[in-house]
This record gives sequence, C-alpha cells and structure tokens, in this order.
Amino acid sequence: MSIGTTITEFIIEEQRQMKGVSGEFTALVNDVVIACKAISSAVRYGSLVGVLGTADTDNIQGETQKKLDVISNNLFIKRNEWAGHVAALASEEMSDVYHLPPQYPRGKYLLVFDPLDGSSNTDVNGAVGTIFSILRRPKDSEGEPTEDDFLQSGDHQVCAGYALYGPSSMMVLTTGHGVNGFTLDQRIGEYILTNPNMKIPEEAKDFSINAAYMRFWDPPVRRYVDECLAGKEGPRRKDFNMRWAGAMIADVHRVLCQGGVFLYPNDRKLRAKNQEGKLRLMYEASPMSFIIEQAGGLASTGTQRIMELQPTGLHQRCPVILGSRNEVERIISYHLEAQ
Ligand code: AHG
Ligand code: MN
Ligand code: MN
Repeated sequence: MSIGTTITEFIIEEQRQMKGVSGEFTALVNDVVIACKAISSAVRYGSLVGVLGTADTDNIQGETQKKLDVISNNLFIKRNEWAGHVAALASEEMSDVYHLPPQYPRGKYLLVFDPLDGSSNTDVNGAVGTIFSILRRPKDSEGEPTEDDFLQSGDHQVCAGYALYGPSSMMVLTTGHGVNGFTLDQRIGEYILTNPNMKIPEEAKDFSINAAYMRFWDPPVRRYVDECLAGKEGPRRKDFNMRWAGAMIADVHRVLCQGGVFLYPNDRKLRAKNQEGKLRLMYEASPMSFIIEQAGGLASTGTQRIMELQPTGLHQRCPVILGSRNEVERIISYHLEAQ
C-alpha cells in the first residue's frame, strides 16, 4: 500500500522552489496541522469525552462560547507558542494579541485564527472547522508585537487555510501558488493530498445565504437572490439551488468544489448595530478570500475587493460575497448600478 503525498511533504516541496526559505515556515504549518488534528479528534469524540455544550463565558464579540471554542483555542495556542516560529497570535476568542510566555523564542510570523468556525453546529453534529492565516511580522516591529503589527490587508498573507471537520477531515490551503486539498487518513494520522490544484467553476447554480434576513438586505443583494429564485422563468433562464450550513467553512468548501456563491452581506439590521457585516475580516473573510481567489474565484464586499481592505482592528467585520467569478462579477455590477 502506498501512502500518497503528506501535507508536510507537499509544503517542503513547494518551499524548495523558493529562494531564501529556512524551513521555519514549513515547521509552522506543521504545528498548525497538528493543532487541527487535535481539534478534529476532540470534535469527533463529542459527547463521549464531554466536550459539547456551552462554556460559562462570552468572547470579545459578546457571543456565548461553546466548550469546543475554548478547547480549540487552547489547543491551537499550546501547539504554536513554543517552537519559535511565531512572534504572537490573535484569535476570534481572545480580545487582544496573545503574547508568548517569556521562556519561548519569538519567530518572524504572526498567526491569526478562528479556532472553531460554525461552533453552534456542535449542538447538532453539523460540520465545523478551523480557519487560519499566516502573516509576516513587519520588519520594523520591535519588542512584543502590537495589534498594529497584525493590521495587514489580505494581500499580505503568506499562507491561508482551513480544516473542515465533516464526514472526513480535510485541510485546504494556499501559499499563493494555487489551492490544494488534503484528507486526513485516520489510519496513519496524516493529511494526504487528495484534491490537487483546486479550481472553482466559473458558472454556478448554487447560492448560499441566510434568507431569514431577506427583509433587511440592500437592493443589489435582493435583486441577485430574487433573480436566482425566479429560476428558468426569470432573467437568468435557469434554476438555482440554495444551501446554508451555518458554518462559513462548510458553505465555502461546497462553493470551492462545485461552484456557486456565498454571501454574508451587510444589511439594515447589522448597520443599526453599527456593524459592517457579521464575518470577521482578519480570521474569516481574508483567509477564505485568499483561497477563493487562488482557485480562480472572486471575493468582494460588493464594492471592494476583500483582499485590499486595510483592517483597523483585530476583530473588524466586513460584508462577504465570494465564489464563482461570473456570479460575483454580476453581484458587483448590481452594486455599481445601485450607486
Ligand atoms: P463562528 O462560529 O466562528 O462564530 O462563525 C459563525 C459564522 C459563520 O461560520 C456562519 O456562516 C455564520 O456565522 C452564520 O451566521 P447566521 O447564524 O447569522 O446565519
Ligand atoms: Mn467563524
Ligand atoms: Mn469561531
């Protein structure tokens, strides 16, 4: 029996083709992969090991944390803080930059992550995942990294990826040279390359949006969805499917595999709370946009390319519209026409 290409082998091969690479990046990705394997295991054992249900705490966004949010955050930190590859970490579940304990060396990378995306799905045995993004620490940054050091647009990402804990555990990542997918082989405990060079179909028949908020949407989003719903009899002259998993990772993974568009737009209700969308720019929107663009798709707020947004805070939110090129272009044009 042959094993196939492991994710570590793949990253080493990719790094060999680049000048001035020390192996530090490969070692960092390796630790991220181990953290995701540990989270995958905790998610899989669920009630058997008492990890489901709600913790007694809220996170910085005021959301009630699940026990698995806290467990996944801690697993990610413990695995990545000691080796000397990162200088600091930041996550959805922590209000401020996480500074490494003094005994550990500081590396040249910054690691940003959503330890468990779609965590409300843990109540119903639905798909969840982990999203991460790797940035370089700015050259002029001295001492302990500050929040400002993290505030880099998506175009500065060195690597972005996600682990999807579905019927099988998958890891999908990009270092800016296309997108590759790996499936966890439980027998040997390694992610194996199963989906090389993933590309999003340009045309699509699926859209993914929480239609419960329809009455709050802006006219361009309403127009797009109305036209999809009108099907063959409408201006699009074809029928569409709608899907909503409640975990961005699961919905975006479907879009990546089969084509389609994922929308979590801004709306009247979010604006009334002074929010620009719901999803977080640094650890949800930017990494997923990097992956989608590298697979040939587009990612926009409706009016701006997400990868160019300059973050002003670690937990900044933004509207997200991403997926098949032709569909996203159409939605952007509807926004332009409405201006
Ligand atoms: P998280 O569990 O990390 O807070 O993220 C949940 C996000 C995203 O994954 C999902 O697409 C969206 O929230 C669902 O929001 P609604 O409940 O408003 O549909
Ligand atoms: Mn999330
Ligand atoms: Mn989360």
